[in-house]
Amino acid sequence: MEIKIFKDYQALSEQAASEIEEVIKLKPDAVICLATGESPKLTYQLLVKKLIDGKIDLSDCTLIGLDEWVGVPPTTEGSCHHFLYKEIFSPLGISENQIHLFDALSGNLFLECQNMDKLILEKGDIDLMVVGIGMNGHIGFNEPGIPVDNYSHVINLDSTTQTVGQKYFAHPTELKKGITLGLKHLLQAEKVVLLANGDKKASIIKETLEGPISIDVPATVLRMHLNAMVIIDEEAAGLLSEKTLLDSQTASNV
Ligand code: PGA
Repeated sequence: MEIKIFKDYQALSEQAASEIEEVIKLKPDAVICLATGESPKLTYQLLVKKLIDGKIDLSDCTLIGLDEWVGVPPTTEGSCHHFLYKEIFSPLGISENQIHLFDALSGNLFLECQNMDKLILEKGDIDLMVVGIGMNGHIGFNEPGIPVDNYSHVINLDSTTQTVGQKYFAHPTELKKGITLGLKHLLQAEKVVLLANGDKKASIIKETLEGPISIDVPATVLRMHLNAMVIIDEEAAGLLSEKTLLDSQTASNV
């Protein structure tokens, strides 16, 4: 696993956007899984700029949403669906047949999971997953304790996720369950880029990079991935040991 530390959110987002650009250049029909949240937001805005500047073309890509809050309508600001359309799909003019998101209002969520797994299998795996990390170490809605061999599934959200998740919504919203790609997808993806910024993430980043590899902190499984990159800012790296800092490929501006 590679660790890259940047001065601030702007710099880490530029790096993340370049990583996405590189994957698309190498494989124009790449399958890309996108997280939502504050961490990747600027990355997506920079990606939109690259498209407008003619630096990338996503018209042959398949874009998959990492997760969704069960029971939250796609039109609600705060849903992953709404975020992805607002930040990336609509500005990039992505056509509907390229987009694959969980329908979290479906009466058959099990089928939703099956359909997502089938699609990924048919595409022959995910080329790039862009993910954030929760305050409890979750990736997507892979909450602490989740088995590593899970593909898509529905899960009861842990109390941290239910509380922290309120930040995305204009009004208090019931967030009891999530539907998500699994850790197995993460481990099988060709490449994973994890983004984290701000001192609020410093403690969980330290646990992720220096603590024992354990499903109690799901993000630690990324250390078993041969092509995972953790892109963080100085604040998120604030509690890392000297050794980790030395091991990391420190960006030139740090
Ligand atoms: P954030 O969310 O990017 O809004 O911090 C990360 C997550 O919970 O996965």
